[in-house]
Amino acid sequence: MEVTVKVFRYNPEKDQRGNYVTYKIEADPNDRILDVLEHIKGKTDGALAFRRSCAHGVCGSDAMRINGRNRLACKTLVRDVGANITVEPVLGMKVKKDLIVDMEPFFNNYKKMTPYLVNDSPLPEDGRERLQSPEQRARFDESTKCILCGACTSACPSFWANDEYFGPAAFITAHRFIFDSRDEGASQRLMVLAETDGTVRCHTAYNCTEACPREIQITKAIGDLKMAMVTGKID
Ligand code: SF4
Ligand code: FES
Repeated sequence: MEVTVKVFRYNPEKDQRGNYVTYKIEADPNDRILDVLEHIKGKTDGALAFRRSCAHGVCGSDAMRINGRNRLACKTLVRDVGANITVEPVLGMKVKKDLIVDMEPFFNNYKKMTPYLVNDSPLPEDGRERLQSPEQRARFDESTKCILCGACTSACPSFWANDEYFGPAAFITAHRFIFDSRDEGASQRLMVLAETDGTVRCHTAYNCTEACPREIQITKAIGDLKMAMVTGKID
């Protein structure tokens, strides 16, 4: 089938502002949008810039706006979006070139969540690992699925209004560790979440949950965090 692909282009070395370039190419309905972009880059326009790595929905590097919705280019098929395709960078993050946005502030917010297990207590005397029941593991299972693609944060109206807002991806990271029974850093993380740019700015728009390619129930997880902040309970 022939598809018409309208792609946002911006080269900071040459352009005052971005514009759209339209390509017409042959594609299979089962091709992914990533294949379409690779085709354009390989055959028509080698200067087209976009991020990709695994091409299998694992690395999180190719989140972009496809027909107005945040998706991973490697997980979106042509047949799912039709013959008229518009590809743009995600919103709320500075465009560095074409479809590539500056993810540094995003990862700075991620780091604020202390994204690793905190536990200074001695190991169990028998030398075994810190054990966890299936129920304890299930408490944070959803949030372990995050691939840090940024589709949620860049779909959030609170983030569009204030890019200092930590955003839903950072909250999912906090959730992953706060509700881990082996972790001892919850109180410190909850204090960070209580800052002005923390969960108080979440207005439950649900955009994050709709945007997440891993189908994580982000809004519910943020609700868990808010409850923990109010009650001080994490179990
Ligand atoms: Fe991406 Fe979902 Fe993680 Fe947000 S929560 S960064 S949308 S995988
Ligand atoms: Fe890795 Fe799409 S290229 S998630």
